[in-house]
Amino acid sequence: MTIDIEKIRSETPGVDNSIHLLASGSALMPQPVIDAIINHTLLEARMGGYEAQAEESEKLEATYQSIATLIGAKKHEIALMENATAAWCHAFYALPLKAGDRVLTCEAEYAANYVAYLQRVKRDGIVIDVIPSDESGAIDTVALEAMIDERVALIAITWIPTNGGLVNPAAKVGKIAKRHGITYLLDACQAVGQMPVNVQQLGCDFLSATGRKFLRGPRGTGFLYVTEALIEGLEPIVIDHFAAPWVAKDQYQLRGDARRFENWENSYALRSGLSAAVEYAMAIGLDDIQQRSWYLANYLRGQLSDIPGAIIRDLGTEQCAIVSFTIDGKTPSNAVSQLRHKNIIIGASDPSSTRLDAEARNLPRVMRAAPHYYNTESEIDLFIAALKSA
Ligand SMILES: Cc1ncc(COP(=O)(O)O)c(C=O)c1O
Repeated sequence: MTIDIEKIRSETPGVDNSIHLLASGSALMPQPVIDAIINHTLLEARMGGYEAQAEESEKLEATYQSIATLIGAKKHEIALMENATAAWCHAFYALPLKAGDRVLTCEAEYAANYVAYLQRVKRDGIVIDVIPSDESGAIDTVALEAMIDERVALIAITWIPTNGGLVNPAAKVGKIAKRHGITYLLDACQAVGQMPVNVQQLGCDFLSATGRKFLRGPRGTGFLYVTEALIEGLEPIVIDHFAAPWVAKDQYQLRGDARRFENWENSYALRSGLSAAVEYAMAIGLDDIQQRSWYLANYLRGQLSDIPGAIIRDLGTEQCAIVSFTIDGKTPSNAVSQLRHKNIIIGASDPSSTRLDAEARNLPRVMRAAPHYYNTESEIDLFIAALKSA
């Protein structure tokens, strides 16, 4: 099945207002997502928040199964979160890492994750070791294998970085982690919603993701996957009486599912939106979404390469729907704001978001455009024309 682009665009009100090429930042929500958020809010207004939750309890509960289906997991392995960073941190900080334990990460690692490593270097004495990249800029899995010894307690990598089209070999890393019995935490924030994701194939123990990017959900949503084999052994860094009911005066009992990482109070309107986003993506099909969004990104790379002074900064042999580039003589923030005045939305990525990679490549701030399947070639043509004159 191929994507019915007319239908998709008619269900995406934002396409009438701008040429939005920033799914890697926060994508345009489709109408069913918007409706789900508004309808739940209206229900809360009409009957009260607790009552609306009770009224919609089956639908809200179904969110876990939808996400599980999206990533090939089981319902009890999913925790709903307010963003990907919260999801990632819940996993990382629950791990009982001790002085001398090595954490292997990648050059494309995201800033939020890296500062958490640094905190545990300071607090717990862990050691961070960065897996070298191969010639293409992706994780060198041969080098990874050679780095492993009995002190490696965690492999934690970013699958697709915030700053470009690189797709790290996450499943190959998973195979190595499994072979050596090492816990594997995967930041899939930029992957979920733009391509098929299957935790069995990836071999990861944890996976973190956000709702607002390629999944087209609302801001303030995300989720964490925790493999069932680990759940019971993990003590979350913070708990409340939802994560761990107070079962006796001096006793709490952690929940047996991944929801031990959640807490009691949540935005059920946003969760309804997230649920609708997951269903929407699955109804279109993640293979088709990947095919079209990656095709549009390659189309964009082709057009960019005709601009004098343009340098495409994406790494890897396989490149996804995030396109990063610089143009000699153009300051990214100026170009981004000039384009915005013409209702063309792209972003910029600062070296501090991916410092290891940025310093290794001496990268300046880069422009970042990320078409999604709802974009068109003619939108990209208009963007390129506007960029030339920006
Ligand atoms: C690779 C990567 N990981 C994690 C995050 C954090 O996601 P969130 O803002 O939902 O916490 C981002 C956000 O840009 C990202 O690009």
